[in-house]
Parts: sequence; structure tokens; C-alpha cells
Amino acid sequence: MNKKESFVIQGLSGEKTLNGSVYINGAKNAALKAMAASILFEGKVILENMPDTNDVDTMANILSGLGAKISKNTNPNGRGCIFEINTDTINSTDIDKILAQGMRASIVLTGPLLSRFGSVSFPSPGGCVIGNRPIDLFVNGYKKMGAKDIIDNDVYKFTAKNGLNGTNIFFNIQTVGGTETLMMAGVLAHGTTILKNCAMEPEIVSIAEWLNSCGAHIDGIGTTTMIIHGTSGKLLKPKNKYFTLPDRIEAGSYLLLGAICADNIEIKNCVPSHLEAVTNLLIESGVPINVIGESTIKISNNSKIKNSSLKSFNVRTHEYPGFPTDLQSQVVSFLTQVSGESMIFETIFEGRFKFAEDLIRLGANITIMNSREILIKGPSSLSALPDDELLFAHDIRAGFAIVMAALIGKGQFKVSNVHLIDRGYEKLEQRLSSLGANIVRIND
Ligand code: EPU
Repeated sequence: MNKKESFVIQGLSGEKTLNGSVYINGAKNAALKAMAASILFEGKVILENMPDTNDVDTMANILSGLGAKISKNTNPNGRGCIFEINTDTINSTDIDKILAQGMRASIVLTGPLLSRFGSVSFPSPGGCVIGNRPIDLFVNGYKKMGAKDIIDNDVYKFTAKNGLNGTNIFFNIQTVGGTETLMMAGVLAHGTTILKNCAMEPEIVSIAEWLNSCGAHIDGIGTTTMIIHGTSGKLLKPKNKYFTLPDRIEAGSYLLLGAICADNIEIKNCVPSHLEAVTNLLIESGVPINVIGESTIKISNNSKIKNSSLKSFNVRTHEYPGFPTDLQSQVVSFLTQVSGESMIFETIFEGRFKFAEDLIRLGANITIMNSREILIKGPSSLSALPDDELLFAHDIRAGFAIVMAALIGKGQFKVSNVHLIDRGYEKLEQRLSSLGANIVRIND
């Protein structure tokens, strides 16, 4: 059961007074996949720079429910957590229904489980309510690789007694989870698996390179065609630790927040080339951003620039390297403050505008045209609601966008459903407080 907590936030009334540095954590969406990939290994794998977020804990609980041995420690010499996972002790391939329904990434476990143990059962996975999130691409992939399936009471059961067989799979839609999961399934399969129209997100590249360094044979990493030469069931050796790459969505979120609420802010330990879709738009809009060295992006002397003097722009979400859907909500909060009209076209998920209704309640001039398009006219001043009216974190990213809106606004704001924000942003209130924000977490 998630704790019922809210954030109480004092708005900055449009002043850009936040200052300081944010050190970016390891990427949630790579960390979860590295945990699933631990099933491909014989012996103990070590995962470093792991974010301390709720989804990572949920994945650990699912794995230990299957029988894996897991330990989580804070890193005495640095940042992030260290996980040690040994999946040799797995004694069940039935993924827990309740845990899986709390997190979409649970589906990524199915590929490694099926390819190593020859069976898996799982419920239709849950996760953020951001649209209809089908799993047909996984189901069709396993069937093409020779698995037999039964659907019983909303539970999918797949078996492949002699292991999975390599085959050609064309993804009708570029899918991050599908690419990762079928890539992992292919690692232990018999023969060669060719995946076409793959997603190319940096998190996929990072996991694939780690697997190759431990004995997998994956070609075409970072391109839309991946060729996986299977090991016919021979497990990978944990020759190298996995070091989680910086979270580009966390970095992009703090950049967008800094662009309208901070005077000087440094986003440290990020990979600037992973963020070009965001930084390009912000530079063109007039935000004073610079890349410093290899891993820092800085916004400097920003209080001299009025938000209303920034230019509006249109956004069309896209698979990497395009503008990420996971920064769509945050860019909407940004665009409510700049001058002019902006159109947002959400191409990946059709249910990601619920938060915009909350922005409208605060005073934003937004027209929701349909489930994929909204029109924003800026700038608008955002004001607190009466005491008994709450704001909601509708999903991880929308939650951050609403916190941004509260910080921009005038008065005191209460944002409930904080457990959804905690799924992806580690200790958000502590990090914002260290920048000078007035934000506290309270029990409801
Ligand atoms: N899709 C299908 N059939 C499938 C699988 C996907 O139609 O079998 C569709 C989806 O409905 C969607 C599109 O394909 O329209 C792309 O979805 P994708 O599979 O790429 O998404 P995902 O793997 O479920 C990951 C991230 C999401 C992020 C998306 C897109 C993780 C754990 N989640 O989801 O992250 O929005 O890729 O980049 O990696 C978040 O972190 O807040 C989050 C939602």
C-alpha cells in the first residue's frame, strides 16, 4: 500500500530565485532493465549507480518473489545504490500479479525468464495511466520465437521447453520495452534473432553494451536493426559490473524547471548529447544555456531574462533522438510562461494530457484539442487554488510538471499522490529545497 503523502509548495510568483546544482542520478529506465537482464547471468551481478526510487524497489521485490537473492546498499564512495543480484536461485517463473500491475517495466522480466527457464506467466502489466498500453509486440515476438501461449483469467502463460529460437521480428511500432525484452530473449536463444524497426534510446544501448561485455553477441546496437546471435542457453558471465547511465529525463526535467524558476543552475553528471532535443528548443526560445565540459549543462544569469520575453515553440514527441514523451508534461508547464502560441502533438501515448486540466484550473490558457494535441497561449500567471482543492500527480512526469507549475505560481499549493512522483524522482523535495524552494512533504 502506498503512503498517502502530499507536497506543500510556496510559489515563487514568477521570480527566478532558485540557485545551485543538481547531480543527476542513474536512469530509472535503464536500472529496471539491468535488473531484468540479471536473469541472463550465472552467478552474482553487481549494478552500480542505481537510483533509489520506488520502481527500482518494486522490481527488486518481484525478483526476490521469484527466488532471486538481492541486496541493496548505499554506495559508501559515491552516489546511487549498489544492487547485487543472483538469479541462480530463482524457483518460480510466475510474476506476482499485484506487483506487476503497479509497474509496466515488469513485462521486461518475461523475455529473460522465458529464454532461461522455458516458461513464464504474467498478468497484463500496469504502470502509469498514460494511454492504452498493449503488449501485442511482446506476445507476437515470443510466438515467432517458438513459444506456446495460453491466456487464462487475464494471466499470460508462455512455454518454450527447449528454449526460444532465433527469428526475424519487425516491430510495427518502435517500442523501448519491446526492443529491450526481445533483445534479451534473443541473447540466450538458439540461432540468430533479427529485430527491425528497433527503438534506439540510450538506455537500450547501455544495456546492450553491458551484455556484450559479458558474453552476449548483439550487433547493430544503437541502430534500428539489431542482430542477436544466441548462445543456445549458455548463460552470461558477470565479468563486468553494470554502471547505470545518467537519467536524461531527470536532467531534462530539472533543466525545464530551471529555465523558468532559477537564476543560476547547474545540471551535473548528465550526458548533454542525450538532451539535444530539449536544449536546442530552449536555446532557440532564448534561455541562456551552455554545455560546460563533458557532463554539465548550465543556465546562467537567467533572472535578467523575463519569462515573457522567451519565444514559444511547437513540440512533437518522438522516439529518441526526438523530443521525449517523458518530458512532454514538463515542457507544457514551461510553455505556459513564455509569449505566444505553442502546439503540442503527443505521438507516443494518447492519454498524457490529464495534468493539463490542472494547469487550466491554475490559470493556464490551454485548449485540449483532442487526446493527442493541445494548444497553449502564454504567458499566463498561475495562482493557488482554494484550501480544499488539491492538485494531483497523475503520473511520474505529470507529477513533476505540476510541481513546476506550483513553483512558478503565486500562493500555496498542495500536490497529492506524491508516491507516483517517487516512482521516478529520488527525494524531489530535498533536492528542490537545496536549490532554495519552499517545499515540504506531509502525510495526508
Ligand atoms: N506498444 C504497442 N504494443 C506493445 C508495446 C508498445 O502498441 O506491445 C506501443 C505503446 O502503446 C506506445 C508505443 O508502442 O504507444 C511506445 O511504447 P514503448 O513500448 O516504447 O514504451 P514502454 O517501453 O512501455 C518506456 C518507458 C516510458 C517511456 C516510453 C517511451 C520504461 C520502464 N518506460 O515505456 O517511461 O514513456 O518507453 O519512451 O522504460 C516514464 O519513465 O515515466 C515512462 C512512462
